[in-house]
Amino acid sequence: MSYSNSFFKALGMDPDDKSSLKRFSQSIGIPLHILNHYNDTHTVPVGSDLQLIMDSTQITFYELMLRMGVFDSEIISAIQQNADQVYTIIKNMCGENKIRGVVPPMVFRTESGKLYQGDCLDLMHHLESDSIDLIFADPPFNLNKLYPSKINDNLKSEHYLKWCEKWATACIRILKPGGSFFIWNLPKWNTDMSSFLNKRLTFRNWITVDIKYSLPIKGRLYPSHYSLLYYCKGQRPTTFHPDRLPMPVCPHCTGDLKDYGGYKNKMNPNGVNLSDVWLDIPPVRHAKYKKRNGSNELSVRLLDRIIEMASDENDLVFDPFGGSGTTYAVAEIKNRKWIGVEIGPVDDIIDRIQNIKNDMNYLEKFRHDLNCLFTNKNLIKRNRDGRWTPDSVRKDASV
Ligand SMILES: C[S@@+](CC[C@H](N)C(=O)[O-])C[C@H]1O[C@@H](n2cnc3c(N)ncnc32)[C@H](O)[C@@H]1O
Repeated sequence: MSYSNSFFKALGMDPDDKSSLKRFSQSIGIPLHILNHYNDTHTVPVGSDLQLIMDSTQITFYELMLRMGVFDSEIISAIQQNADQVYTIIKNMCGENKIRGVVPPMVFRTESGKLYQGDCLDLMHHLESDSIDLIFADPPFNLNKLYPSKINDNLKSEHYLKWCEKWATACIRILKPGGSFFIWNLPKWNTDMSSFLNKRLTFRNWITVDIKYSLPIKGRLYPSHYSLLYYCKGQRPTTFHPDRLPMPVCPHCTGDLKDYGGYKNKMNPNGVNLSDVWLDIPPVRHAKYKKRNGSNELSVRLLDRIIEMASDENDLVFDPFGGSGTTYAVAEIKNRKWIGVEIGPVDDIIDRIQNIKNDMNYLEKFRHDLNCLFTNKNLIKRNRDGRWTPDSVRKDASV
């Protein structure tokens, strides 16, 4: 994928030659800011703009698409039908087998886990194909943040996506058939990642996790959710046992928020089905709860839910972007085997695993409130106030 200035390059124009661009814009009658928009957003013009461009440049629609690297189903089937010729052209451009990097050093281990320090791509080169049960990846979001590792978090979109495709490809290779793959990112990047993954894995869900992630931006909707992609290798996941959640009730009086009418006795006493919109994952903002200073850190609740849903005890969990080690801590607590890697400092991860009791106590507290229709606290209040409970509706039905 290479789409820097792909529109101007497709027209044979030098993107830095502003006066030629201005003259071209005037000659075809499309304002320069609109031409810049096509170029900056890698968008193929349509309608009257396309006609004007084709008339003045004699470039056809399909030539323009090919030169810009935008492939629709017609182009894809033409490539398929001429695969031998296309392969002859590209085989000299792409090396088939990349040289393996040196395996990064293992810097810490427990009975169930191994932590490496280095580049996840180097590590993955040395992991066996089809060997991991569950992969969770929370890469840097390319938002120009300063990570302790000082990685460049401000790449050109195409370079960032190319890198994401590289590590995702490596993850897919090492994932077991039936294994699950989750990617946490901004919706903006996950739209690209899902079209990449759709051709390689089986789509399960786009999970919307409701967390405000930045300040309101003028002229845009307030960014209020992260995207969690969920895929599996092969037809279906080997392991799938999602938690059930308590029914939402009024936080003040614990009364029903919806009218369940005559269906109360049909409600599963173990709680409501987990949906693809998660509203109960808190951000980790308060310094008191942070395991390392500065950059992103996910809630153990998120990893608890994913690891419970998509793995069993003794399964092998891999996370290519260690950060503060949330995945490894939850895997350790839940008796999963794990492999971790972080390119930057790893002291906070080691410290966290060595003091695992903190995460363990927190996890224990909130797991009490899962897989039941009402939390214990709410059940006591509802009984006291004469509201219905799974027991009361069962008794009524048996009278
Ligand atoms: C968004 S953070 C992960 C946070 C983590 N999920 C947590 O809850 O603490 C991304 C991490 O990936 C690390 N990283 C970036 N590029 C990497 C690479 N090529 N290999 C390994 N780690 C990398 C960064 O240093 C950063 O700590």
